[in-house]
Amino acid sequence: MQADIGLVGLGVMGGNLALNMAEKGFTVAVHSLDWPAVTAFVAGAGELAPRILPAKTMKEFADLIRPPRPVILLVPAAAVDAVMKSLSEVLARGDAVIDAGNSDFHETERRQRDMVDDGIMVLGVGVSGGHEGARHGPSIMAGGPVQAYRMAEPVLTAIAAKYEGEACCAWLGPGGAGHFVKTIHNGIEYADIQMIAEIYGLMRDGLGMSAAEMAQVFAEWNRGRLNSYLIEITAQVLETVDDATHKSLVDLIVDRAEQKGTGRWAVIEAQRLGVSAETLEAAVGARVLSSLSQQRATAEKLYDLPRHPLALDRAAAIPKLEQALFAGKIMAYAQGFAVMAHASEQNVWNLPLATIASIWRAGCIIRSQFLDTITETFRAEEGMLNLLLAPRFVTMMKDNHQGLREVVSHAALAGLPVPALSAALASFDGYHQARGSANLIQGLRDFFGSHSFERIDKVGPQHGMW
Ligand code: 6PG
Repeated sequence: MQADIGLVGLGVMGGNLALNMAEKGFTVAVHSLDWPAVTAFVAGAGELAPRILPAKTMKEFADLIRPPRPVILLVPAAAVDAVMKSLSEVLARGDAVIDAGNSDFHETERRQRDMVDDGIMVLGVGVSGGHEGARHGPSIMAGGPVQAYRMAEPVLTAIAAKYEGEACCAWLGPGGAGHFVKTIHNGIEYADIQMIAEIYGLMRDGLGMSAAEMAQVFAEWNRGRLNSYLIEITAQVLETVDDATHKSLVDLIVDRAEQKGTGRWAVIEAQRLGVSAETLEAAVGARVLSSLSQQRATAEKLYDLPRHPLALDRAAAIPKLEQALFAGKIMAYAQGFAVMAHASEQNVWNLPLATIASIWRAGCIIRSQFLDTITETFRAEEGMLNLLLAPRFVTMMKDNHQGLREVVSHAALAGLPVPALSAALASFDGYHQARGSANLIQGLRDFFGSHSFERIDKVGPQHGMW
């Protein structure tokens, strides 16, 4: 029997993806450096085992797959180059390597160039949804040679999550487009998570709510317009009680957020493109600050500043917090999509923004009802540079900015940090102000560096008589 597809890397994600493919009726050749782990994996695959073909060596692996061979790679980012090198020795012209890990899209493009001489295509594929998604349906963002995508398309669409019957899987563009889109997905994921954590912080420190009380609020919000996977699991995390201590588990978790770096890449790319993505930046910055726990403890003692409850009663505060979270979310998505719109133009990728929003509606970590609104908006107005200019978004921001404004103001007066929500508000206020204050910046630049400025009443570069 020959396999339809190969998979290298049998970690949790790789293993689950292999089971998902086998369950959908495909035969999968699997390989990993750890042979006992491969045999154990197949032995544990139960009724799916006959469709999973283990290979001890790379050569055996390649021989098991029907040419032209699509080979999925799910190995740690640091191992991708080494595995690709060994694969290039056993694969043939016309085969395709599908890197389904979180690779930097620049690296993906370099690998595509490196493999050109061997005639092996490299597809950079973002896969979102964690281990559950990999097993039962992730969101799949593909980029690279379209022929390589066509080879793997039947498998990828079969294993992807479905939203109202539509597969959450698409080819998004050439080169590193797929991994780039996944990077921005993760930047938005960071912002989404950060804002949820800020609202949680206000409920805990500003309103004195217990984790169980907060869980109820998030569960309630999940039945409304904030309906999303992240809000749903926030409620679940908050209601979880530690078996041993009978305390809320969240209260026992150290407040240091880690990161593997994809959110930071999103911010670096935004900066490179000259697009402001302040909510994403704030989220990355907040994770960094959270990691400085020693310094934070020292500074708390040194400054000894009071923190106050929010000057709002709980009943009045909860709807405002919901509005603030919704408005903040709008800003984060508007910024993430604006980064993609600019990258699309700059790299001539022609990224289909409506399709991207549509394949994020199920399977991925940021899946939400709101992404359906974004899908509809881009479907109605293809080529829009910023969601904030769409009539539907204008209405939503008009209806909700006041909640964001009040929450950020109350938080500032209480001494409670809300960096991403503050960034959302500041960038919103800057965006809807036709005349800002950058005229003074231009004046200063001309004063000290003769950099010139434009005048509102004259044409061409001007200098001041400083
Ligand atoms: C996904 C996630 C995933 C990511 C984790 C952890 O879409 O399934 O984005 O790819 O690795 O969320 O990311 P951090 O460790 O950077 O928080």
